[in-house]
Amino acid sequence: MILITGGMGYIGSHTCVALAGAAHELLILDNLSNSRIDVVNRLETLCGKRPGFVEGDVRDPVVLGEIFERHPITTVMHFAGFKAVGESVERPLEYYDNNVNGTLQLLAAMRRASVRTFVFSSSATVYGDPASVPIRENSPRSATNPYGRSKLIIEDILADLHCAEPEWNIPRLRYFNPVGAHESGLIGEEPRGLPNNLMPFIGEVAIGKREFLNIWGADYPTHDGTGVRDYIHVTDLAEGHVAALNYLNQNGGLITINLGTGKGYSVLDMVQAFERTIHCPIPYEFGPRRAGDIAQCWADPSLAYELLGWKAQKGLEQMCSDTWRWQQQCRQLNI
Ligand code: WQD
Repeated sequence: MILITGGMGYIGSHTCVALAGAAHELLILDNLSNSRIDVVNRLETLCGKRPGFVEGDVRDPVVLGEIFERHPITTVMHFAGFKAVGESVERPLEYYDNNVNGTLQLLAAMRRASVRTFVFSSSATVYGDPASVPIRENSPRSATNPYGRSKLIIEDILADLHCAEPEWNIPRLRYFNPVGAHESGLIGEEPRGLPNNLMPFIGEVAIGKREFLNIWGADYPTHDGTGVRDYIHVTDLAEGHVAALNYLNQNGGLITINLGTGKGYSVLDMVQAFERTIHCPIPYEFGPRRAGDIAQCWADPSLAYELLGWKAQKGLEQMCSDTWRWQQQCRQLNI
């Protein structure tokens, strides 16, 4: 059985669907701080059976102890964490407590239960402002904000743990920019309030919830002056976790893998792709650069293919069409 912390969230829920598709038994632990309880009903539909669900916090050793006592957990996939860059600058203590302390509590509970397979949700943000692109796993790391630093600290905790106790199996999966939604339109990203990220914001402009998109900076050293990122469909990202588990069936150890497409698209590229999808203009205005933003970031995903036999399958058009379908569904679901 796989314990999915944060399994009611955006990436966690899509990974639950992919894992169920690979016949894994699932138990979700989520404190619902950034997700809604009815996601589990929609997961029941998509997974073919209702995943187990425990409402609780990864920082609670009592909740964790009960889970490992009552369920035959063999693997933990750890998605639970705060992830907003700007918010992390305003609330560093909360970010380090939730992200770093939460992970430490989880690892301690795993060790007490002799469960030593831990899949970590890391992020391309650990590369900071890359000196060159595409980015390989051995590229230098740095942090430009507490969110990114929490991911970097946890990566180092995991490396130290594996060095002391080599029997741990630990894939550290570095996500680039997850976007899109399950093709059913039943699950997707549910940002609370003003979306931080580009794609949900474009979707809300398209649906008429927002008047226009602010494009933060048009003077970057990129092909059109706007920021370039490696956008990856969230279901491709989810399949990357299944591939990592399959790898662990044959191999153990500590591995670090980029989960990206290897393609960089600018903000204007994304706006134009979305306009082609909905056949309507997306109004936008240029604004100043956003603090902490970098010019460009995209992956060299070759190690994921070499080690896991995985590569992203879905292109920009599907990222936009699935986002659009989900945005329309949100209006129906009153999300
Ligand atoms: C993408 C581009 C913005 C919003 C962050 C985290 C990363 C991951 C994804 C968690 C940039 C521009 C954005 C807007 C804009 N999070 N933009 N107007 O900052 O690359 O990555 O989110 O896992 O770890 O660092 O993503 O979508 O916020 O920004 O112009 O309203 O879109 O300047 O160039 P980012 P993003």
